[in-house]
Amino acid sequence: MSDLRPPAPPRRHLLSIRGLERDDVERVLETARALAGSLDREVKKLPTLRGRTVVNLFYESSTRTLTSFELAAKRLSADTMSVRSAGSSVDKGESLKDTALTLSAYDPDVIVVRHPSIGAPELVARNTAAHVVNAGDGKHQHPTQALLDLHTMREALGRLEGLHVAIVGDVRHSRVARSLVQALDLVGARALVVGPPTLLPRGIEALGCAVSTDIRAIADADVVYVLRMQAERMGSGEAYVPSLREYASSYGIGPERVRRGQVVMHPGPMNRGVEIDPRVADSGAALVTDQVRAGLVVRMAVLYDLLTVAAVREPVHAELA
Ligand code: CP
Repeated sequence: MSDLRPPAPPRRHLLSIRGLERDDVERVLETARALAGSLDREVKKLPTLRGRTVVNLFYESSTRTLTSFELAAKRLSADTMSVRSAGSSVDKGESLKDTALTLSAYDPDVIVVRHPSIGAPELVARNTAAHVVNAGDGKHQHPTQALLDLHTMREALGRLEGLHVAIVGDVRHSRVARSLVQALDLVGARALVVGPPTLLPRGIEALGCAVSTDIRAIADADVVYVLRMQAERMGSGEAYVPSLREYASSYGIGPERVRRGQVVMHPGPMNRGVEIDPRVADSGAALVTDQVRAGLVVRMAVLYDLLTVAAVREPVHAELA
């Protein structure tokens, strides 16, 4: 007998900023802002995603992204579990596809994937009925980082449209930079990437940014966004800078390079004394802990958006009232 049920609508995923429209970004940021109020309550848990299951599948080290997705799922009353590649059957040679099929047998609603290989979250999305969120794939994309950075900027500076953001450092190996440039372009902000020629990938302008090798170009920016030197993505024997000391001197963000009124951001983890001087990292200009706090509400908003908005399109404010 033929199956007369209508086909299930395709699952929405969050794999790349490129897959979003401005409305999508605005909706997630509005939801995050509404959810932020719940963090100040004595009882912080909301019943919104009760009965839902969120699986975190992490093949790379993480502190911020993993803990914030775990806590975001818990704060929304979802069941959650985290699988790290070390100590799992990945150690025994299980492929990403088989791991995705195995975890999908538990009928999760969302799988959050971090992987050193570009495209790994797409592969998981092809092998599961769950929504998939890219939590960082190689040097390709880290869309929830970009969304939490937009939220942080908007809360700190009151706007995104017209904001001037200088992204400084190891752009070549940075998924954070690629996602953020695209996200800034989407919301009408200006992005400038700054770094030594060896750390600026050819053609990065095509993502929607200006480029400079002159560190003095950051002077006009509202936001100085400092990137980590990503040694784990540099092959052994590859030298992109003469030395870390020289890099710190030429491109490190110290107090003398931050003008009054600028704010400084860093996605973490920070290499203090390399790309950022501790006096800046610990100053009132730094929004680093605001970014971590934003990570929780924005990831709550992303889970909420994927699991409820497509179905009901109700503003989150009504539910939280
Ligand atoms: N910014 C960021 O992705 O941090 P983690 O590697 O700690 O998750």
